[in-house]
Amino acid sequence: DKKYTVSSFMQSKVKGDKISMLTAYDYSTAKLLDEAGVECLLVGDSLGMVMLGYDSTLKVTVDDMVHHTKAVARGAKRALVIADMPYLSYHISVEETIKNAGRLIQEGDAQGVKLEGGEEILDKIEALIKAQIPVLGHLGLTPQSVNMMGGYKVQGKSEEQAKQLIADAKLLEKAGVFGIVLECVPKQLADHISKSISIPTIGIGAGNGCDGQVLVIQDMLGMYSDLAPKFVKRYKNTGETMKEGVREYIQEVKSGAFPEDKHSFMLKDDVLEKLY
Ligand code: KIV
Ligand code: NA
Repeated sequence: DKKYTVSSFMQSKVKGDKISMLTAYDYSTAKLLDEAGVECLLVGDSLGMVMLGYDSTLKVTVDDMVHHTKAVARGAKRALVIADMPYLSYHISVEETIKNAGRLIQEGDAQGVKLEGGEEILDKIEALIKAQIPVLGHLGLTPQSVNMMGGYKVQGKSEEQAKQLIADAKLLEKAGVFGIVLECVPKQLADHISKSISIPTIGIGAGNGCDGQVLVIQDMLGMYSDLAPKFVKRYKNTGETMKEGVREYIQEVKSGAFPEDKHSFMLKDDVLEKLY
């Protein structure tokens, strides 16, 4: 199969093909997801929580993102690889924003970056696009704003908030982003936004009217239980399968059932004879 690109992303909306996106943070998982056929891998700053054990995404650094993005890019033969810009990497100045995004592209091998926010970061988004870096927008619940939002809450429920979200989506479209993640917004609002812009919307907790969906891989495979948002569907209980395998291993180590001779390296008889 051909490499999925930012232009394939746009074409998917025109064709009415829904886009599947999942997060990935390492080589072997990225390879599995790519082989399964997912169109887009997001190296989310959610890695701070699911891979590094932080209680929010705020501590994630550009170095962390570069490190994980490199690994994912090596595993993604076909999928488009997008990296999150972490907190403070695009808040200080346009110059720093371009430098940081440039690292995710040059060192990390991402094909694009994702930034949280609308009107307030428009100058940064425009500068990135001018620098030839494809940008994925992210509106609604933006986890880097957790302290301002007072927790992880559904966004866009009031008329004022909903109007702001619609306006932000249009601003981002005009700025030239290739898609917009809509996180935790009422389904009807996500439907309306998806219909009123020409670029794909990718929903997470935003209903099935979006042009694509994204989930955190550890959430949908049951490998992370610190948070259990309503929008997560658990497709497999891989966490339990891992524990079962590990329990069996421990038991066989204790009993001596593992390793068997077929897992062991043997001396030839003639060498063995000369030793004793
Ligand atoms: O960091 C992340 O995983 C994300 C997605 C959930 C959209 O930003
Ligand atoms: Na993120």
